[in-house]
Amino acid sequence: MSAGMATDAATRARRARQVANATLFFRRWLANPLQMGSVIPSSRTFSRRIASLVACGPDEVVVELGAGTGVITRALLAAGVPAEKLVVLEIVPEMANHLRSVLPGVTVICGDAFELHDVLPGRWHGKVGTAICGIPLVMLPLEQQRRFVTAVEAVAPGLGFLLYTYCITSPLPYGKLGLDARREAWTPMNFPPASVWRYQPARQQ
Ligand SMILES: C[S@@+](CC[C@H](N)C(=O)[O-])C[C@H]1O[C@@H](n2cnc3c(N)ncnc32)[C@H](O)[C@@H]1O
Repeated sequence: MSAGMATDAATRARRARQVANATLFFRRWLANPLQMGSVIPSSRTFSRRIASLVACGPDEVVVELGAGTGVITRALLAAGVPAEKLVVLEIVPEMANHLRSVLPGVTVICGDAFELHDVLPGRWHGKVGTAICGIPLVMLPLEQQRRFVTAVEAVAPGLGFLLYTYCITSPLPYGKLGLDARREAWTPMNFPPASVWRYQPARQQ
């Protein structure tokens, strides 16, 4: 096979995967729009931007909460995070199975991010380099948002998390949740335009 034919085959495979991802995503959105928060997966440009914000020390893992079709996970792999250091959590069994089939070597857990203390194996408690959240937390009442913050804090004390969102302003009322907030990225190269926010436990003055 010539180099040109190999490139064409790779491009066709990528397009086929994008169509399959979009179809699965849209089907899940029809089933539960509040859980999905969007009708289509994140763009590759935006996924790369998120991946550029991730830190992972030698004995740490990156934890992705609400991995969907795995577009962010793939960007993390492409950015150099080794598969064995990636732990992704997805609540919908069909999507978790899909992630297992397309992301060999990545630890895929089918479970609820709000129960992180119980679903994340104990060997990674206190060893999370970055936690990334794709769950549409903005749609939830304050009490649920508080539960999420507490769940992350239980396995990664003091770390906080990255949250990607389509909101123009902070999707979380961070003051009420005892968090500091910083918008780390914004890109129009996503439909709709999207931002990444970093939330950390508020520093005592
Ligand atoms: C906006 S989508 C993630 C999109 C992903 N970046 C992509 O482009 O494919 C949010 C995902 O979070 C999952 N999710 C929602 N609530 C969850 C929970 N409590 N625990 C784990 N995953 C959850 C949904 O099933 C959905 O796949």
